Amino acid sequence: MGSTRLQLAVYCVWASITAVAGEAPSSVPGVNATHAAVDAMMALYNETTGIWDNDPWWESGVALRAVADYMLKTGSDEYLPVAYNTFNIQRAPLEWWPEGGGDFRADSTDDTGWWALALTTLYELTRDVEFLDVAKEDEAYMFQYWNKTTCGGGLIWNIPNGTYHNAISNELYLELTATLHNLIPGEEYYLNKSLLGWEWFKASGMINSENLVNDGLTDNTACVNNNATTWTYNQGVLIAGLTQLYKATSNTSLLETAQQIADATVYSAILSPGGILTEPCGTAPDCDPNTTAFKGAFMRGLAQLDAVIEEHPYKSYIQNNALAAYTNARNGSDFYGLRWQGPFDNASIGRQESAVNLLLAAL
Ligand SMILES: *[C@@H]1O[C@H](CO)[C@@H](O)[C@H](O)[C@H]1NC(C)=O
Ligand SMILES: *[C@@H]1O[C@H](CO)[C@@H](O)[C@H](O)[C@H]1NC(C)=O
Ligand SMILES: *[C@@H]1O[C@H](CO)[C@@H](O)[C@H](O)[C@H]1NC(C)=O
Ligand SMILES: *[C@@H]1O[C@H](CO)[C@@H](O)[C@H](O)[C@H]1NC(C)=O
Ligand SMILES: *[C@@H]1O[C@H](CO)[C@@H](O)[C@H](O)[C@H]1NC(C)=O
Ligand SMILES: *[C@@H]1O[C@H](CO)[C@@H](O)[C@H](O)[C@H]1NC(C)=O
Ligand SMILES: *[C@@H]1O[C@H](CO)[C@@H](O)[C@H](O)[C@H]1NC(C)=O
Ligand SMILES: *[C@@H]1O[C@H](CO)[C@@H](O)[C@H](O)[C@H]1NC(C)=O
Ligand SMILES: *[C@@H]1O[C@H](CO)[C@@H](O)[C@H](O)[C@H]1NC(C)=O
Ligand SMILES: *[C@@H]1O[C@H](CO)[C@@H](O)[C@H](O)[C@H]1NC(C)=O
Repeated sequence: MGSTRLQLAVYCVWASITAVAGEAPSSVPGVNATHAAVDAMMALYNETTGIWDNDPWWESGVALRAVADYMLKTGSDEYLPVAYNTFNIQRAPLEWWPEGGGDFRADSTDDTGWWALALTTLYELTRDVEFLDVAKEDEAYMFQYWNKTTCGGGLIWNIPNGTYHNAISNELYLELTATLHNLIPGEEYYLNKSLLGWEWFKASGMINSENLVNDGLTDNTACVNNNATTWTYNQGVLIAGLTQLYKATSNTSLLETAQQIADATVYSAILSPGGILTEPCGTAPDCDPNTTAFKGAFMRGLAQLDAVIEEHPYKSYIQNNALAAYTNARNGSDFYGLRWQGPFDNASIGRQESAVNLLLAAL
């Protein structure tokens, strides 16, 4: 660990020297490169369906949030028509989920969570209460699946089967409720839900002895950590949720936990070999399309945490990853490949939104 910390310090010095030198090929990519990556992402957009690529559906919720983040960070309104188009089309009842009542109520709690979070960002951007109202509706839908039959609470993931207390659904719920609280002055309901969610998560055993979050709990009465993969998004969305809850409560213990998880990821030989964030699934085709979007969710959460800590301990890590992806994983049309170490392999919505989230994190 000592040598990795030293390595990070060296990156930091190096990054600041190149930033001062301002040489285009070796400096941290800025707004121009981010805009180019968003435009490339838009090449995967279908105006008729309002989604990016075809599959998986939740990744269009992440893409929607990424264009909203881009507009929030840059002051642009370029993609507002896209945002409204997607919202208006995709809020219709889902053909593939007969019981889905529309407004992003899906057959798994995490899918609803990704879309609801996009709506909170769109509300922050536009103050259009329609976005906020649907996000609130989605929170209520998710909470229907807070299930005490086993594991003493927590959301279950698989709605048709009523099973699997997993990390991502509960992390998205934590981030969603804390974000709603922070967006609605003086409210207490969502804060209460957020604290309930966090207290349950903390006691669940999902965070392992290395301070990394595994995928979920065993689906039996024991409800112990199932030791399944520590995906990067399982770390990042918890970091984002804890950062939002810290903003709501000023409880520094939440930040300490978020930093432990962030450190466990950025100093991990498996998740950050050579200082570059890497999904623990190897290369395509071993990484299914779902997993290609995970790294972006990590970087988004890490940047939020970094922004509330005065020393900005993760800034050089984020910048170094952005530079690596821009230099090694990008093709001439500003598409980004699966591995930020490079080389560029293929374009897909998951790959591209991961890159957009990374570039946004570095802005
Ligand atoms: C803007 O970004 C594009 C794509 O990354 C790049 O080709 C171009 O050189 C950049 N222009 C400037 C002025 O940095
Ligand atoms: C957009 O989706 C519609 C409906 O699935 C399809 O008919 C059309 O070909 C798609 N457009 C593009 C440009 O892929
Ligand atoms: C529900 O569980 C059954 C049996 O394990 C499985 O075959 C089915 O695919 C599951 N349904 C969903 C929607 O996951
Ligand atoms: C709660 O969990 C039980 C046991 O897995 C399941 O049978 C039931 O359908 C779940 N109910 C809800 C509302 O999720
Ligand atoms: C918070 O939740 C508890 C139950 O967990 C409930 O008793 C209390 O009334 C709630 N407070 C608010 C302000 O919603
Ligand atoms: C997970 O790993 C720990 C530590 O190796 C072990 O004690 C525990 O039994 C494992 N849990 C399961 C469900 O396999
Ligand atoms: C701060 O958060 C920690 C961790 O969840 C909790 O144990 C503690 O009670 C909280 N402190 C206050 C004052 O709420
Ligand atoms: C994404 O994950 C879901 C849930 O595990 C699965 O049903 C779906 O087939 C996956 N999609 C792709 C394209 O692999
Ligand atoms: C970049 O990759 C995309 C997707 O594979 C491809 O359509 C495009 O032609 C590539 N651009 C260049 C300049 O090779
Ligand atoms: C690239 O992605 C396209 C669209 O998902 C897919 O059809 C194609 O097989 C992929 N190519 C490679 C070399 O993986």
